[in-house]
This record gives sequence, structure tokens and C-alpha cells, in this order.
Amino acid sequence: MADCDNFIVWWLKRVAYRIWQFKQTVLPRLDRVAWHEAVSDLPPTVQAHLASLKKSEKAHILRVYRAVKASRQINDEERRELMQMALLHDIGKAIIRSSVFMKVARVFLPLGRNEHCIAGARLLHRLGFERALVKRVLRHHTFDHGDRLLRIFQEIDDNS
Ligand SMILES: [Fe+2]
Ligand SMILES: [Fe+2]
Repeated sequence: MADCDNFIVWWLKRVAYRIWQFKQTVLPRLDRVAWHEAVSDLPPTVQAHLASLKKSEKAHILRVYRAVKASRQINDEERRELMQMALLHDIGKAIIRSSVFMKVARVFLPLGRNEHCIAGARLLHRLGFERALVKRVLRHHTFDHGDRLLRIFQEIDDNS
């Protein structure tokens, strides 16, 4: 019975969070100055891909970026790595778009979200980004790994 209650609490929290996420998607707020400042050091090709993301996706990336910047769980070097990861982790969404059906299904069901991870990792690999970053972008919706930094990132990503 306790397991069943735990599952219901987990599921309700998940649905509440997804509804919040849905609201952020429908009514996104993007600080354009902060966005341009955050991406300004990236290569022009990467900036062009990021520029084609939807406003809600940019707003999410900026929330992740700011949360990583403010995190107390990481040192300066880890912060540098994860701030770059924050800007680039969803770049695959500029290449691959989920259907509306899949987006709605994901609100209620624990479905995978791997397509944009693969597309993003391929793009970053082709552009010569570090192997560790490419690997983390590839696995950023996978939970079966031993990468502490990725785990910290995923927690931030999931709550942003
Ligand atoms: Fe993602
Ligand atoms: Fe994300």
C-alpha cells in the first residue's frame, strides 16, 4: 500500500510539474539581453542553431544556465563545464521536433525523450566539441550512468 501511495505522490508531482512546464511553454518569458550575453562566446554556427530554437526553449536554457551559475554543489571548473552544457544540451531541438501528440503523452506517461539528445550530440561531435560534453548531451535524459556532474545537471534541467 505504501508503495502505491508513493507512486501516486510521485505521479501527481510529476503531472503538476509538467503542467508548470506546459505553462512556461505557452507563455514563455525570455530575457533577450541575458540570452545574447550567455551565447555570445559560442561559435557562430552554434549560435545560429540556438537562434532557431523556440522562445520557450531559449527561456528554459537560460533558466538552466542561471541555476548552474548559482549552484553551490559544484566548483569553478565544474561550473564552467555545466554552464556550457546548459547552453548546448537541448540544441538537438533545433534539428528534431517532437509531435504535439508526443508532447501531450509525455505529460502523463514516463516516455523517453531521446531524439534531440542524439541529434544534438551528433551536431556537437561534428563541430569538434569535447568528447565529455558530447557524451553528456547524448545521455542527458538517461539515468543509468555513473557521472556525478551529469546527475547534478539533470536535477537542475528537470526543475527548470
Ligand atoms: Fe533535453
Ligand atoms: Fe533541458
